[in-house]
Amino acid sequence: MTQPDATAVFDEISEMDSKALFKPKVVALVVSNSEDKGPNLMTASWYMLAGYNPFRYLLSVSHSDYTHEIIEESGEFVLAAPSSEMIDALVLSGMESGRDLDKIDHLDIETLPGTEIDVPILKNAVGNIECSVMDSFEFENCTYYFGKVEKAYITEDGLDGRLLSLDEDVLAYMGSDWAEGDTHTKSRFYAELDSEDLRRFPGDQVVEGLPEDRREEYEE
Ligand SMILES: Cc1cc2nc3c(=O)[nH]c(=O)nc-3n(C[C@H](O)[C@H](O)[C@H](O)COP(=O)(O)O)c2cc1C
Repeated sequence: MTQPDATAVFDEISEMDSKALFKPKVVALVVSNSEDKGPNLMTASWYMLAGYNPFRYLLSVSHSDYTHEIIEESGEFVLAAPSSEMIDALVLSGMESGRDLDKIDHLDIETLPGTEIDVPILKNAVGNIECSVMDSFEFENCTYYFGKVEKAYITEDGLDGRLLSLDEDVLAYMGSDWAEGDTHTKSRFYAELDSEDLRRFPGDQVVEGLPEDRREEYEE
């Protein structure tokens, strides 16, 4: 039987629109700290958990960002998970460079000293991860930093077992787009999630469908 063409099943989208597929995403606020000029904030969606032992996050930073200059100097950064009340910080820190504006001061962002690294954490974030750069590589116009987790924090009662409690005011970012009205900037969209939106799926149903020899491993 001949398979249908992909375009008979899907709408083709541009590479730019492929960004919509892996949303919602909690976009990070990256804090870095310049020895001379103090702390800076940058919005970052190019990051991922990149392995255990040691636990590490991979963060891609464009060479043109001030954050790149600071991390090259200091070898440290904080990945903060913003709350939805920090939507202004997410927008501004993705538009303005710390070379031109002290974003922390302008946004009146409250910080606390980092514990293991010399970079402040964000007091009103849902959580903060202190990272020290253990390795990095360059590709095209970015440097990819492997940040070893030195310390991680979540707001009080922010965990529900191993899960992020959806009662927390987490900023589930959906992306940006031009919206109705005469505006200078795109609108930013985020989803409101709360604990009622959580669905449980017991993995046993998947195991039951496996061939017998593969099932045994899980049923012991
Ligand atoms: C939603 C969003 C995500 C972004 N993600 C990244 C990223 O992961 N890495 C990066 O280098 N720049 C990213 N940017 C762009 C920087 O945040 C932006 O260039 C910022 O002004 C850099 O600030 P700085 O010069 O103070 O470091 C992102 C911007 C937005 C709006």
